Amino acid sequence: MTPAALAKKHVAEKQEVMREYMLRTRPGGVKGADHDALCDLLEVDDPSRVIFEQGRGRQAVVRVFPVNPLAKMRAITLEDLQLDENGCIRIGSYYDGEPLRMRVHDPETGNAQRIIIFGTTGAGKSRALQAFLAACKRNGIVVHLADLKGGQSVPEAKGNVATHVRTLKEAMGLLRAAVAKAEERFNRYADMGRSGFLIDNPDPLEYVVIDEANRLLEKGSPFRAEAARLIKEIGRTGRSVGIGIVLAAQAGHLDELGGSDTLRAMLKEGEVILLRWSSQMMASLVGDGLLPTGENLQPIPKILGAARRIQRWGAPVDRSKERPNSQGMCYHLTSARPSSMARFFLIGSLSPHEGFDPVIRQLYGSAPPPGQPLKLIYPPPKDGQGGQAAEGGDGLEYGGGDEGEPESLPAMPKTLKERILAALDSGPLSEADLLAALDVDGGKDAKRGSVRTTVSTLRGEEKLAPKDASGLISLPM
Ligand SMILES: Nc1ncnc2c1ncn2[C@@H]1O[C@H](COP(=O)(O)OP(=O)(O)OP(=O)(O)O)[C@@H](O)[C@H]1O
Ligand SMILES: [Mg+2]
Repeated sequence: MTPAALAKKHVAEKQEVMREYMLRTRPGGVKGADHDALCDLLEVDDPSRVIFEQGRGRQAVVRVFPVNPLAKMRAITLEDLQLDENGCIRIGSYYDGEPLRMRVHDPETGNAQRIIIFGTTGAGKSRALQAFLAACKRNGIVVHLADLKGGQSVPEAKGNVATHVRTLKEAMGLLRAAVAKAEERFNRYADMGRSGFLIDNPDPLEYVVIDEANRLLEKGSPFRAEAARLIKEIGRTGRSVGIGIVLAAQAGHLDELGGSDTLRAMLKEGEVILLRWSSQMMASLVGDGLLPTGENLQPIPKILGAARRIQRWGAPVDRSKERPNSQGMCYHLTSARPSSMARFFLIGSLSPHEGFDPVIRQLYGSAPPPGQPLKLIYPPPKDGQGGQAAEGGDGLEYGGGDEGEPESLPAMPKTLKERILAALDSGPLSEADLLAALDVDGGKDAKRGSVRTTVSTLRGEEKLAPKDASGLISLPM
């Protein structure tokens, strides 16, 4: 093509609104579409301008935009954060302008939600959480937050949530306390003959929110088994008594989310939002059967508008436009449009700040946050002096200096004995629960037979309480 022709094409593309091709595909739709090949066919060198969407059955559509329609997003407003009649907030938009909603409360069943937002580093998880947190505050919903990047992921949340903790240990205290609260509500509601949750009657809707949840759930985390169990427990018991759970996690692999079970539970009944992913993550999602549509998700590029061009040898390379600019682009996998590209609205300032981001502070508003801090629950010390409870928040130690808080130390492989003792640290377990805990603690597969033998050896060594009528396995009193 001559330079003049190229320029003409360029102008035509700039003026163009959008080209649309309705396609009839083979039965069952296109699996594993090759997006690059499609762009080649259409002679479009910026893949983010081409959007392929598989409809039901044999319908599909290809739309070619002058620029990716999600390239520019408007800022989120307080109106977006108001719960609508379906208990949802507007958190962004699909590529065709339809609002992207996130359910915070289900007015029909009264259920609290389970939400997981995951993607690679820098994809926009924490900003999305900030919108959720601000929405909670504005709607009288109580939040107990663990910001496991030492409080740096969502710094503006401090003072705007009922409970604010920053270490793994405190996060565990928070999870235990939330489970205890859910159980208390469960029993109280059962006594009242209630079958569901009525918001603010008499209890408020509450959420446990964990940013960087992977730090609790990844292999090598000393709390992996217990955290996975407590999170599932909140998902199960908490939901119907108005205590929900929201996780934001950086995940390169399902193992970093406590294994596939955590996500499976979320996918079944929760909301799952996937931001920019790594190829390894996609492989494990599809490999685990968690994402049958995975192959049809058009990749989210790190940089929108980047055309891959071959440069002449020695030609100067312009890298000025190579900064990531696709943060917040996502798929809402459990919505009605799981394979439609969407993006969160702009949340906060684009440039970094000294101190708190004023735009985000404004979203929260200056009123005090609703609710009371949770009293964190810690396991009884080994000498059996009873459990400690501590007020959530800032009276506690922070950061990596904590004893027993190996945030970044690689874990040594543990023996089965050590793993069993660790799993029982937080309380007695039935054999089935112990096996389940060992399943997700990051160690080797533990067979029922060897677990039974090891339990009786430990009982012989008086490291476990003797067998009793309850059938539970526990540490000695
Ligand atoms: N919705 C958004 N609106 C405005 N800017 C955003 C948005 N999402 C992300 N960004 C930009 O991208 C940066 C990274 O976003 P964020 O901190 O939310 O990513 P993350 O997925 O939590 O990353 P990490 O895994 O490192 O915690 C932000 O500092 C901000 O500049
Ligand atoms: Mg983050």
